[in-house]
Amino acid sequence: MCEQDQASKSSIVIGCDHAAYKLKEAIKFYLNSRGYKVDDVGTNSENSVHYPEFAIEVAKLISKGQYGRGILLCGTGLGMSMVANRFKKVRAALCHDIFSARLSRLHNNANVLVMGSRVIGEGLALEIVATWLETPFEGERHQVRIDMFDHLQPD
Ligand code: RB5
Repeated sequence: MCEQDQASKSSIVIGCDHAAYKLKEAIKFYLNSRGYKVDDVGTNSENSVHYPEFAIEVAKLISKGQYGRGILLCGTGLGMSMVANRFKKVRAALCHDIFSARLSRLHNNANVLVMGSRVIGEGLALEIVATWLETPFEGERHQVRIDMFDHLQPD
């Protein structure tokens, strides 16, 4: 099975804070309508919460191999990225354009997509999600480079 098929067959885990609650709901609706299964760790309203709680939950699930792909959303995407990238085997990519989303897969094998709801609109965010899920990792020299830093993360 090619990586593109794997992404479409396995569940995606998604989490957000209050700033990105509406965007998370839009992404869930979009992905469900395209046949993806999405597991949502919250938050479930626009009431103020602490973004690290949701980043930690998603990053732990990716780090343990329980999900192959995750999506994290907050106001800027910055806080979620900082937290998620502290976890072993997590390669979280903050992408606000299609080119970065595509390259984060081709070259960096990103397993978590991060976006900021206060930075981009819903239409672009949905296109970024689609591109990110459908783009395979190129491997080879890019795997060599990932191997050079993956071990730096503590257990
Ligand atoms: C919440 O106000 C905001 O700080 C959060 O969504 C995010 O942008 C943090 O990085």
